[in-house]
Amino acid sequence: MPLGVDGLARTIDRRAFIDESILDIEWDRVFQPSWQLLGFSGEVREPGDYVVRMLGRDEVVVIRGEDGDVHALHNSCTHRGTRLCRASLGNTAHLRCSYHGWTFANDGRLIGVPARRSGYPPAFDRARYGLPRARVVCRRGFLFATWDPQAPDLEEYLGDIAWYLDALLDCGAGTWEVCGPPQRVRTRGNWKIPTDNFAGDGYHMRTTHHIALDQGIYGDTLADGTRGRAGTDLIAVNIATPHGHAVRAAYALPRGSRLDDRDLTAPRFPGYPPRRWTDLARAQSPEQVRFTSHCEVAHGVIFPNTAFLSVAHDRAIGHDDDPLTRYLVIRAHLPLSARETECLYWTLVPTAMDPAWQRRSYRFQARTQSAGGILFEMDDFENFARIDAALARSTPGRSSPVDLSLGAGLGTPVPGFPGPGHAETATLSEHNQRAFYHRWSTLMGELP
Ligand code: FES
Ligand SMILES: [Fe+2]
Repeated sequence: MPLGVDGLARTIDRRAFIDESILDIEWDRVFQPSWQLLGFSGEVREPGDYVVRMLGRDEVVVIRGEDGDVHALHNSCTHRGTRLCRASLGNTAHLRCSYHGWTFANDGRLIGVPARRSGYPPAFDRARYGLPRARVVCRRGFLFATWDPQAPDLEEYLGDIAWYLDALLDCGAGTWEVCGPPQRVRTRGNWKIPTDNFAGDGYHMRTTHHIALDQGIYGDTLADGTRGRAGTDLIAVNIATPHGHAVRAAYALPRGSRLDDRDLTAPRFPGYPPRRWTDLARAQSPEQVRFTSHCEVAHGVIFPNTAFLSVAHDRAIGHDDDPLTRYLVIRAHLPLSARETECLYWTLVPTAMDPAWQRRSYRFQARTQSAGGILFEMDDFENFARIDAALARSTPGRSSPVDLSLGAGLGTPVPGFPGPGHAETATLSEHNQRAFYHRWSTLMGELP
């Protein structure tokens, strides 16, 4: 069965979410040629600092070498294959294997072999036994990596989505700092389920997250069930790129107005303190301001499995006195199997903001959209687990494809939208998910 109908990926075969044989193909065809997020340079600040992460199906030690560069080294000894590094993070002068003691430098070179002179033939060449290294690029503190020597450069790979990421980061007026190691949580369900959710699923808000909306976490619930403040409309713009990356940005505007009606001589950055708005506007280009001004929430996906969310909150449950705040969370959705995913969450805070604001931003993120948060993750994970259970157990259900037609053909192009890519307004649409699955199905080919 073809994965996409009419080449538009309006349906997906249900086996794509449950079959291990399909994950096996995904490792080679989707993950291998892609750039994936390993973490942030702030996690490995000093020479010898390391974290252990997944790159595709392989574990890598992400380590800052003595040369100051960050390396991603296959976490497997080149002698018999022993897992080298067993801690999830730390600082080390070298990596020494626990089996026979081969020792590797922080850039992956084999530098120590017990009994090398007495036990190995003279032709034994240590240089041939270095740890395999992935390509790593640090972009604005984000550490992306790929195993594929043929993969395009990261900038080419990111394409249009880089413009949107930069706009969100520049809106913080400078550099960003990662708040400690990521939170990690396992969820039932295939890795594509949370990923397509982040690509552009505004549709589930009114049902899945109605409690959060009722609590006023985003201000009032609007007449159409979406979020916002009384007297406003939520206008969402969906932007998809041919690479499968996507972003959805939602703007709360006075009822009946259009995106063009915003007064950009007085830009607004919800969640940031109004006294900082002039500074924040100055840190961006006029085109970036046209994207970020009045934006309540922007979320999206960097294909295949990196997601981001920048959102303003009126209130954090349990901290009712806190003023409006914004947070930025970056996520990786890592397959543990076809039916289980590990989610990593990093909160980033702009260094230009004062420490109290940074703490509040981190707290809002931790209390809502995180593994231990109230409402959002619990609500979403419950649905992801239910999808998994139903798809895996129901034989009749396997025969009907998963539908992705919401809003198809109904979006309105946004002429003059400041960013690149195909932008269209449709508050409820699966435009971005179609782009994500179209890219996925192009790489996968037909299912066996
Ligand atoms: S397996 Fe690592 S030194 Fe033998
Ligand atoms: Fe959700």
